[in-house]
Order: sequence, then C-alpha cells, then structure tokens
Amino acid sequence: MIMTPTDIGITIRAARKAQGLRQDELAAAANVGVRFLIELEAGKETAQLGKTLAVLSALGIDVALSTPDEARRMTRRLIVWWNGARVGQLALNEYGEPEFTYAADWLATSNARPVSASLPLQPEPFDRRATLPFFEGLLPEAAQRTAIAQALGISERNEFRLLEEIGGEVAGAIEVWPEDMEPAVAGSPEASRILSDDELVALIDRLPTRPMLAGGEDRLRLSLAGAQSKLPVICKDGQIALPAPGQPTTHILKPEIARFEGTAENEAFCMRLACAIGLDVAHVQYRSISDKRFLLIERYDRQTGEDGKTMRLHQEDFCQALGFTSARKYASDGGPVFRDCFALIRRVTTRPAAETLKLLDAALFNAIIGNADAHAKNFSLLYLPDRTQLAPLYDLLSTVAYPDLSQRFAMKIGGRRTLEEIYPADLDKFARDIEIRAPFVRRRMGEIAEAVIEQSDGVAAALVLASDRRQLLNEICDTVAGRAKLLLDRLKS
Ligand SMILES: Nc1ncnc2c1ncn2[C@@H]1O[C@H](COP(=O)(O)OP(=O)(O)OP(=O)(O)O)[C@@H](O)[C@H]1O
Ligand SMILES: [Mg+2]
Repeated sequence: MIMTPTDIGITIRAARKAQGLRQDELAAAANVGVRFLIELEAGKETAQLGKTLAVLSALGIDVALSTPDEARRMTRRLIVWWNGARVGQLALNEYGEPEFTYAADWLATSNARPVSASLPLQPEPFDRRATLPFFEGLLPEAAQRTAIAQALGISERNEFRLLEEIGGEVAGAIEVWPEDMEPAVAGSPEASRILSDDELVALIDRLPTRPMLAGGEDRLRLSLAGAQSKLPVICKDGQIALPAPGQPTTHILKPEIARFEGTAENEAFCMRLACAIGLDVAHVQYRSISDKRFLLIERYDRQTGEDGKTMRLHQEDFCQALGFTSARKYASDGGPVFRDCFALIRRVTTRPAAETLKLLDAALFNAIIGNADAHAKNFSLLYLPDRTQLAPLYDLLSTVAYPDLSQRFAMKIGGRRTLEEIYPADLDKFARDIEIRAPFVRRRMGEIAEAVIEQSDGVAAALVLASDRRQLLNEICDTVAGRAKLLLDRLKS
C-alpha cells in the first residue's frame, strides 16, 4: 500500500486519540518535537521519514516500507575501497538484502580488477546470492562471529552490519567503510601501539569474549575468516603492536585452541614441515609468554617496502571465488570439492600448469600429515599486481592428533575420506577427478611422503618449545612420519 502524507497524518492522529494521548505526550514518547508532530498530523509533505517512523513505532504501528524509493532513503551504504579507490558499494535492497554494485568510475579505469572471481566486472548490481559469498566470507565464523555479534549488540546473521562495524582491515586489499567515513589514512608505523608482554597476555585472555577486539576502545575494525581465535597485528623488529585505525597489519596472532592441546606447536610444525619439503607456505613463528602459546603468522597479503610502508595485496579464498558462503565451506555441506578447486585454479591463475601442481602438492601433503580440515576456505588465490597464483598455504594442522575432531577429509581424495583408505588405485581416481596424469600423481605422492619422512624429525627438533611440549610434538611428528611410511609402502607394493 502506498500512503500519501495526508493518509499518514490521519492514521497517526487517529491512533494517538485512540490511545488517549495528547500531542505533546506522543511527541515526547517518540522523541520528536511537538511542532514536527503537529505538521505530521496535518499531512505536511516534507515530514522526515525517520522521525515519522519513530512516531508510528511509538504508537505501536509497524510499517513495512512500501516502495523501493522509500526503502533506499532509509538505508545506509558501505563503500568498498581498494588502495584508496572506490571500487563499489554494498547497499541493502528493499527487502533488506545486501547487494554489491561496482562504481562506474572503477569500471571505467583501464586496469580495473574484480574484487572476486565470483563478482565479474559489470555495471548491474549483484543480488544477495552473488554478493554474500565474497563479503560474508570476510567475516569471522561460528563462535567467533557469535561472540562479536554479542559484543556489538547486533545479529550474527546481519552480515551488512557486521561489515559496517569490523570490515576495515580484512583479508586481501579491500576495505569496507560506512559511506559517511573516509578510510582512515594508514598511519605511519609509529602510530601503532606496541604491546608489552603483560598487555599481550591480557589481550589473548580477552579475545574469546572480544574476538577481533570488536567494538573496543581502540576503535579498530578488524576481520579475518575462520572459526578459531586470531587477531591481525603488526610485528616489527620482533615486537607485536596493535595497528592504528586504518593501518595495514603484517601478521596474524593465533593463540592455541583451548580445547585441543598443543595446536600452536602442531601448526608450527606442519607449516615448517611444508616449507622444509619445498611447498610455498606462510612463514610462521612460534612464541610463548607466561602460559600463553601462540603463532605469529606473516601475512602474505601484505608487503612492507623499504620505507616501512605496508601495502595490501588482494586475495580471496576458494569459497569466495567459487561463490560459496562460509556455511558451505565443507564438501559435506554441499561445498566445493577438489574438482571445483582445480577447475578454479585452471580458470583464473596466470600460470595454470604450475599452480595446478602446487595445489596437487598441497592436497597430498594435507592427506599425509592428517589435516582433515583442509576445506575450501583454507586455500586462497593471491592477486599480485602482475599475476594471479595459488596463495601460500596456511592453517596446516595435523587434526588427526585430536580424536574429538572429525578424522574424515574435508574434501575426498579419489572418493576416500581417510589416508588409511587410500590405495594407489584411489590416487588414480583422484588423478582423473582433477584431470592430472595418474602416474604423475602417484609419483608426487611418493616424493612428498619420502620428503616428509626425511624432514619431519629435523623440523620438530628445530622448534624451540617449552620442555613440557616436546613429548607432545614428538608424538605428532611420529604420527605424521608413520602416515607417510604407510602410504609409501602401499605405493611400492
Ligand atoms: N598468512 C596469511 N596471510 C594472509 N591471510 C591469511 C594468512 N593465514 C590465514 N589468512 C586468512 O585468514 C583466514 C583464517 O585463517 P586460518 O585458516 O588460519 O584460521 P582458522 O580459524 O584456523 O580457520 P578454520 O576455520 O579453517 O579452522 C584464512 O581463511 C585466510 O583468509
Ligand atoms: Mg582456516
């Protein structure tokens, strides 16, 4: 129904009288001026929609905005920035659904690039279904998102509001800012706040209830995907600092997972092992302060120049690129399978052959170390200025060390869900699925297994750990080497 200002005036006057209220009383309850109410009831055309709604709501009248025009006047917009340029906007349509539209100026730039492989450059807006995977995919997940929503007093299902609150420093090069705010100009490195050890310990204690420090006094707007606790920080000369608003971070601080013992040691080991056998993987430091153990992972989507200035490089994970929201990151929830991931790599990278083989190595390595959680948000594309490639590997954890975590691979290998089920014939099926020659896949599996056996002890020994953690890491190391040996025996028999 479309109401004229006169209709609204009559409706409000009738409802007020029916509720036995004077004009001054209703005005006070709705927090508007009496003069405004008088004009509103008289049907004055310039009545402001926001205040009008306040009056209607004070009378208990629910109004569904009936025309897209009215709805648009009510909504805020979020502007998406990329290195100081406006790329586009996120706005809510008349049904309250987020829609992304590229800015005409951006489309007109000669080197315009899409923010996502799932959002190709086009002047038309993307509907919610197309918009959400990339933008929702920037937000923390599961319990992290719940805790942030609780701390901010908003719904965890309101991705638009969550991005409005925390979408400043996210994965990749873009920044999301409310339209009435210019992106804070990246402060000088000195603008960051160096944390003492005591402050670091307090910060790690605070993260479970304040993930990303959302809504805190520092007014930081930080966001990273994932279900585990983490915080983007700046690390310079070994010191850890909180960024100033708008300042790019350089590292990700990832505390150990409280429920599972030794995840920091485990992840440090798996990441270093990947590096030792020649895979491209994010650099990681293992640190402990008092009883806190955490990882400091170098961000591959940030690049610090000789002048000390940090630039943002763009990236997106495979779910974002393939158009799946984080709720469907697992293949068992209808999310991407390896075949989709390989097809993506072939479609978007600059050197598909080399990148395809890197992804193959990653898949085989994860199977050997027992990383059952290698879902499509744990692989990313890195958009460098001159080429698109598979991002360095991250989030490598031998999850089989924890019996309470699912032992089944997030993405099947040749139809198999565990390493114990994999025989050479299954590798051949995997090869067919991902369209790589079968003998090559078998050979790579063998080479990686051999390299893991060769390197694992040395990598474990080189990690400087608290003494009570050594035994635990040795067990993980033995398990990983044992799995590699099992596979190697099967390949040889
Ligand atoms: N070294 C890195 N550089 C840049 N971005 C990274 C890096 N490591 C992780 N990320 C980004 O942060 C996100 C979360 O990291 P990570 O996967 O380690 O967290 P998690 O909470 O353990 O994830 P999960 O939910 O899979 O357990 C990744 O999906 C990726 O977008
Ligand atoms: Mg992850």
